[in-house]
Amino acid sequence: MNLIAFETSCDETSVAVIKNGVLAANIISSQEFHTKYGGVVPELSSRAHIKYIMPLMKSALEQAELRIGECDYIAATAGPGLIGALMIGFVYAKGLALSLDKPFIPVNHVEGHIYSGFLMDTKPQFPFLCLAVSGGHTLLVLVKSFTEMKILGSTIDDAAGEACDKVAKLLGLGYPGGPFIQKHALLGDEKSIKFPIAELKMKYDFSFSGLKTAVLRFVQKEQSISGNISEQMTNHIAASFQYTAVTSLAKKVEKAVTEFKPATLCLVGGVAANNRLRTAIESIAVKYGIPSVIPDMQFCGDNGAMIAFRAKSLVESGETFALTHEAFPSFVSDYLS
Ligand code: KG4
Ligand code: ZN
Repeated sequence: MNLIAFETSCDETSVAVIKNGVLAANIISSQEFHTKYGGVVPELSSRAHIKYIMPLMKSALEQAELRIGECDYIAATAGPGLIGALMIGFVYAKGLALSLDKPFIPVNHVEGHIYSGFLMDTKPQFPFLCLAVSGGHTLLVLVKSFTEMKILGSTIDDAAGEACDKVAKLLGLGYPGGPFIQKHALLGDEKSIKFPIAELKMKYDFSFSGLKTAVLRFVQKEQSISGNISEQMTNHIAASFQYTAVTSLAKKVEKAVTEFKPATLCLVGGVAANNRLRTAIESIAVKYGIPSVIPDMQFCGDNGAMIAFRAKSLVESGETFALTHEAFPSFVSDYLS
């Protein structure tokens, strides 16, 4: 199977190619310029996708040594994401499919992340428990096959990545916040400040807004006492925040491992790049004697490879596609707005 996939849901333009069933290219262009605005500017994101989508497609095909006419399927992220950004990749891919008379496969972005463990040499085994943590979503999912999954819980307010971004902003660090939190956390003491972990009625749901507010209150109090936040205090806050967020995620993951006894434990999404979280999830897997699969960095943040793989798995699962497909074809979309 030859397939080309486009990902443009937020601030990464990415094109991936599967050649003879194997990933042959995964080119990602990150829109670094949003940093100076402290967050993604949707209008600018859409414009950058327009600029880069065609050159990236050409590079990906070149790298894969494939011609566009040799692709059997054309796939693109259908959502969720920024609508203007999504539309660039979606409509571009659909037009391509129409002109080539090839099936178009719309892919749910979160499902792309959830199955991204399959891009690794060691594949997840079904049923696997998957913690999907990104800038837009935080989900705990029991994945039974390529066509069946059960969402055990999700965030009731901020996503984990969103919380990192907001706390980083509060501390005057850069955007996206996650990597800055991780960098400063390495220099701080994670037990120095005790931030609260939310207690929720639904046992697998998550909440980060209380934690975010606790950090805000702490920062305001510190500022009123000492006038400003020292570099060392910034490190302690980043470390303590990261520790609390990781602990709250890990607690639910461990509970679900004991209840559902999955064959594999997966951690996916942009926040899966966080070393402290990776270690925490790996430790749970070791404790319960199950393998863990956490994608390499290039497959954690948004990337075309995960969209290509998800499209391939849908085709192989017998889903049929027509150019008229508008809706998400599958499962997570039933739960996400
Ligand atoms: O999956 P992703 O690239 O985009 C969405 O689908 O949202 O995730 C982006 C999120 C951002 O919130 C970013 O701060 C976070 O992933 N992130 C991290 C790290 N690297 C990226 N969070 C914590 N630690 C990191 N090292
Ligand atoms: Zn994502």
